Amino acid sequence: FDVVDLIRTKRDGGELSTPEIDWLVSRYATGFVGDEQMAALAMAIFLNGMAPREIADLTLAMIASGERMSFEGLGKPTVDKHSTGGVGDKITLPLMPLVASFGVAVPQLSGRGLGHTGGTLDKLESIPGWRAELTNAELREQLRTVGGVVCAAGAELAPADKKLYALRDVTGTVECIPLIASSIMSKKIAEGTDSLVLDVKFGDGSFMGDIDRSRALAETMVRLGEDAGVRTSALLTNMNVPLGFTIGNANEVRESVEVLAGGGPADVVELTVELAREMLRLAGQPDADVEGALASGRAMDTWRAAIRAQGGDPDAPLPVAPETHTVTAERDGVLVEQRALPFGVAAWRLGAGRARKQDPVIHSAGIDLHAKPGDAVRAGQPLFTLHAEDAARFARALDALDGAYEIADAGTEPRTGGPLIA
Ligand code: URA
Repeated sequence: FDVVDLIRTKRDGGELSTPEIDWLVSRYATGFVGDEQMAALAMAIFLNGMAPREIADLTLAMIASGERMSFEGLGKPTVDKHSTGGVGDKITLPLMPLVASFGVAVPQLSGRGLGHTGGTLDKLESIPGWRAELTNAELREQLRTVGGVVCAAGAELAPADKKLYALRDVTGTVECIPLIASSIMSKKIAEGTDSLVLDVKFGDGSFMGDIDRSRALAETMVRLGEDAGVRTSALLTNMNVPLGFTIGNANEVRESVEVLAGGGPADVVELTVELAREMLRLAGQPDADVEGALASGRAMDTWRAAIRAQGGDPDAPLPVAPETHTVTAERDGVLVEQRALPFGVAAWRLGAGRARKQDPVIHSAGIDLHAKPGDAVRAGQPLFTLHAEDAARFARALDALDGAYEIADAGTEPRTGGPLIA
C-alpha cells in the first residue's frame, strides 16, 4: 500500500479496507508510517468519520499491535469499569473494593491524569508507599488473593494506541467518536476482562459535551465490546457539576474512604452503587446487596487489603497542603451554578494535575467544596477552599473560577445539576 493514497482516501470521504487498516496500524507501530502521516489521517478521520466496520478494524489492529492478556484459570469472573473522565471522579477507588468484596475479580488497569481530568493512579499515589506498577504475575496473584487491583496498564497493552493517543493530544484530534471508541476499547479488550461497564460522561466537564454525542460514543463502544466477546454495558452520567466535595488527589482518597466507611457525599455514593450493581449484574450476581457491603465494612476490608498488597499503608496520614485560600458567599441566597470544567481547570492550576506527561502532580493540591448547587447559603459562609503548596498559585486558579459559580435569590432552581444518571 501507499500511505499517501490511504490518507487521500480518508481525506476524500472514502472507506479503508480491513487489510489497509491492519497495514497502516502495524506500520505506524514500527515507525514506517510517520507521525506526520498518522496526524493527517487522524484529522481526516476527525472530519469525515468512519464506518462501523472501519472502527472495529481499527480497534482490532491496535489490539494486535501488543500483548493480549487473559485471566482464564482464576476461577472467578472478571469485570472492569471505565470512565471517560471527569472532575472529582474518584469512583474507581470505592468501586473496586466494593465489587471485589462479592468474590468477583476486578482488574482496574488505570491511567494518569492529563489536563483538567484527574487520574486514578495519581490519586492513589497520595497514599504513602503505594505503588502503581505491577508485573502481570503480581496482578494475577492480587486478583486471586484480594480480588481487586488498581494498577498501571503495562506498555505492552495496545502500544499503537498509546502512540496515536499522544499524537491526537497535540493535533486537536481527541474529541472524535471513532478515535475515542477504538482507543478505549482496544485497551479494555486487550486486557482480557470478561465484562465491562462504561461510565460515559456528558456535560460541561466531559469530553463530548452534549448528551447525544455521548450516547453515540456509548453505543459505539458497547458494540465494539460485544463484537469482541466482552459483555459490555454503559451508563450515561452527568458531568456538569464536580462529583462529591473534593477535586484533587489526597482529598479525593479521603472522600473515597468516607464512602467505604458507609458515609460520603450522596452523588458519589449513588454513582458507586449503580456502577457496582451493573458490574455485579454482568458478573452473574443481579441481587447483590451492594449497600450492605458498604454499611458492614466488608468493602473497606477489601480496600485495606488491596492498598497493603501494593505496599501502601491504609492508616498513614495523607499529605496536607501548607497554603489554603477560602472563598465565601458574597450574599444570602441559593447556589445555582457550579461548573465542573472551570473547577477542574482550577484544581489543575493549583498543581493537582499535569500539563505535560512527564510533569509530577502535587498530591496535597486541590479544591474542597463546602456547598453544592441547590444549597442555601448565607453571606460570609465558605463556598470552597483552594489548597496549594505555594500561595502564588491561587491567583491563576481564581481566574479560572471567574463566572464558574453563582448565587441567586432563594427559591431559584439550580442551573447546573439535574439527574446524575440519564
Ligand atoms: N481515553 C483514551 O484512552 N483514549 C481516548 O481517545 C480518549 C480517552
